[in-house]
Amino acid sequence: MSVHCQVELTTTSFCCITCINAHNYLVLSKMNSCGSGGSKESNIRAENEAEAEEKHFRSIINAFKYYRTHSVRRLLLAEKYFDELPDHHKAMLPSFRDNLKRLRICIYHNYEIIKLIIADVDHLFENTVLERDQDAVIHPSPETDMEKVRTVLKQIARDWTVQGEAERNACYTPVLKEIVKSFPKDKYKTENIQVLIPGAGLGRLAFEVARLGYSCQGNEFSFFMLFTSNFILNRCKETNLYVLYPWIHQFCNNLASSDQTSPVQFPDVNPTQLNPDVNFSMAAGDFLEVYTDPGIFCIKHYCFKCSFS
Ligand SMILES: C[S@@+](CC[C@H](N)C(=O)[O-])C[C@H]1O[C@@H](n2cnc3c(N)ncnc32)[C@H](O)[C@@H]1O
Repeated sequence: MSVHCQVELTTTSFCCITCINAHNYLVLSKMNSCGSGGSKESNIRAENEAEAEEKHFRSIINAFKYYRTHSVRRLLLAEKYFDELPDHHKAMLPSFRDNLKRLRICIYHNYEIIKLIIADVDHLFENTVLERDQDAVIHPSPETDMEKVRTVLKQIARDWTVQGEAERNACYTPVLKEIVKSFPKDKYKTENIQVLIPGAGLGRLAFEVARLGYSCQGNEFSFFMLFTSNFILNRCKETNLYVLYPWIHQFCNNLASSDQTSPVQFPDVNPTQLNPDVNFSMAAGDFLEVYTDPGIFCIKHYCFKCSFS
């Protein structure tokens, strides 16, 4: 039987790991570093950390919001450079302007998806509300953050579309086979086997482990990834709900300009359909800080694969 499975997140500073599914709400461990029982110094340190985290949280929301302006500026620059070319050079690129127009439409479309990704992030975590400033003016984000927003778009294609299947097979299948080999279904009650995926990115490997019937927790410390995995794992309840243009920011290594604007649909599977006996969760925070208790997990699997560009 399949059920809808809600995946909840917790924050680093609170270091609380929560598993939740449609039938079960189970707090696995709780280490509240902001408790009132500590010394004055440790409480001040915890408050400072919480403030810094909130600031960081807002800066990532800003980066997502800045995506459209930043991307359109890049196009305007390309248009300006094109205008400066001599006419006989322009004549060699007859479809250049049309391609820029198409790219602009795709940017606007991607921005609609981005708005959905950040729509409910204030309530991302079950143990705290990180409030965004609703009236905050969007300001330029560092290029490093903007690159991460673009990477998220490509990672959606890699993890949650049909087009990413070959790469997923190459990277995830060996990990999945190893888990099945180590804990075969005929010898183990697989839902009792706890698998941890540190650096889980957008959560596809963790989801596949849970789909095989093992209890699985993904762990991730990047808000870019956590916002997006929350959107996919908790809000996308059917297949191929959304269209995205992941490759529009790549101006080289395209065989044709239409490659740049080719769309993908996501998610290729319904992420909320899992066996109800399986615990599936994502824990937010630095792997080294969150998992200090030895012995909870039977398997820890790392999968650090490169993004296809
Ligand atoms: C190369 S990506 C791989 C993501 C995913 N495993 C995949 O195969 O698509 C590595 C991920 O690990 C996360 N990461 C790196 N160090 C981490 C840490 N100490 N704790 C939690 N996550 C971490 C990064 O944010 C990034 O999303």
